Amino acid sequence: MSEPMRDSGAWALVNTAPHQTRIGVVGAGAMGSGIAQVAAAAGYYVLLGDAMAGAVRRAQDNIRTSLDKLVEKGKLDAQKRGMILSRIDFFEEPLGMDLSAYRECSMVIEAIHEDLGAKQALFGRLAAVLEPNAVLATNTSSLSVASIASACVRPERVIGVHFFNPAPVMPLVEIVPWMGTSPSVLEGTRVLVDSWKKTTVQAADTPGFIVNRVARPYYGEALRIHDEGIADCATIDWAMKHLGGFKMGPFELMDFIGHDVNFAVTRGMYESSFWEPRYKPSLSQKRLVDAGFLGRKTGRGFYRYDGTPNPAPSTNPELCTLISERVLSMLINEAADAVFYRVATASDVDLAMQKGVNYPKGLLAWSDELGPTWAFDRLVALQAEYGEDRYRPSPLLRRLALAKGRFHG
Ligand SMILES: NC(=O)c1ccc[n+]([C@@H]2O[C@H](COP(=O)([O-])OP(=O)(O)OC[C@H]3O[C@@H](n4cnc5c(N)ncnc54)[C@H](O)[C@@H]3O)[C@@H](O)[C@H]2O)c1
Repeated sequence: MSEPMRDSGAWALVNTAPHQTRIGVVGAGAMGSGIAQVAAAAGYYVLLGDAMAGAVRRAQDNIRTSLDKLVEKGKLDAQKRGMILSRIDFFEEPLGMDLSAYRECSMVIEAIHEDLGAKQALFGRLAAVLEPNAVLATNTSSLSVASIASACVRPERVIGVHFFNPAPVMPLVEIVPWMGTSPSVLEGTRVLVDSWKKTTVQAADTPGFIVNRVARPYYGEALRIHDEGIADCATIDWAMKHLGGFKMGPFELMDFIGHDVNFAVTRGMYESSFWEPRYKPSLSQKRLVDAGFLGRKTGRGFYRYDGTPNPAPSTNPELCTLISERVLSMLINEAADAVFYRVATASDVDLAMQKGVNYPKGLLAWSDELGPTWAFDRLVALQAEYGEDRYRPSPLLRRLALAKGRFHG
């Protein structure tokens, strides 16, 4: 019989003194090794394990290399480098069914591959060996935290902690309680991750959390403009960088991320939102995936990386303004809708997009700057032109436009 939910406040994380808080990390791939490095750099003792032989050894090499680079750049001294490495217990034996090595951990962060069944099985086994007051965190990007928690004894101790890649470099962590997470687990986790010198935001357990949801139009609307033949990818990228102030254009960024990954995220959002038309994937991106033109990693995506010259952008001011305004108004709409549906506060949405994906400004602060009807008017015009629900303004954007209100104070 499952035990009743509790919120005793006696969770191990309430005491976040590094020497009394041992952190477990399961999965020593790109994310797990980065998270282990972050926790150890903040003074915590970490146990890092993986099911695959050799994975932990590779993680150890990667962490060493990453720390060496910091030493070379003068950002870390050699003594501290040694201390960070000595705080990580690299558990080299492949993890099997027995996870008792983690039993003294106050918190275990799971960073195994994105598979619900595998994560549920892992949490079930971890819950059996951990102290009852230990916290279980998942680094999932796309699964529901509730569904992972459902497999676990004392599910109120389960929470999402979504780091960005590479974890030692990217400042943002989305903290994602599911509807049953104990308030003190939420509070303790946020205090702990803040103490790791990360910027935390709180997101509801909804598809894409904040960043992967609010960023969708940056790709989706750019693809739509491209697919309609309004402009080519070089022109759209130029407009978003030079007029929008974004560091990378959407097509450069998709080529960098990989179309297999980017397409899968969009498709996942489309399906898990029950077919929200704003997230509808692009057929031209699907064709790139079909062809194996996955971007930089395969030498070809929207651009060529094999020495073949790429087209030069058109810098026609009228066209480029149209492009940047259309993408920006869709981004602002998405950010407003995330606030409307209580995914996060306006402040956390703005912070997340700046710290998670380097946006030049918080989207809602940007909207306030441009004026309460700026994005609304553009969306109304797009909706009238296309007759598509995709362009409907968020009720919150409509409300603020009518009231001439602001997102921030
Ligand atoms: N890579 C990213 O950009 C990124 C960003 C944020 C979140 N995430 C999420 O983080 C998680 C890990 O992603 P990644 O990119 O580090 O993956 P990865 O493939 O680099 O590493 C996953 C590791 O988990 C190990 N593993 C698999 N099943 C295991 C099990 N049952 N027990 C122990 N170890 C197991 C694998 O051997 C592998 O070493 C995923 O949930 C992913 O969605 C990834």
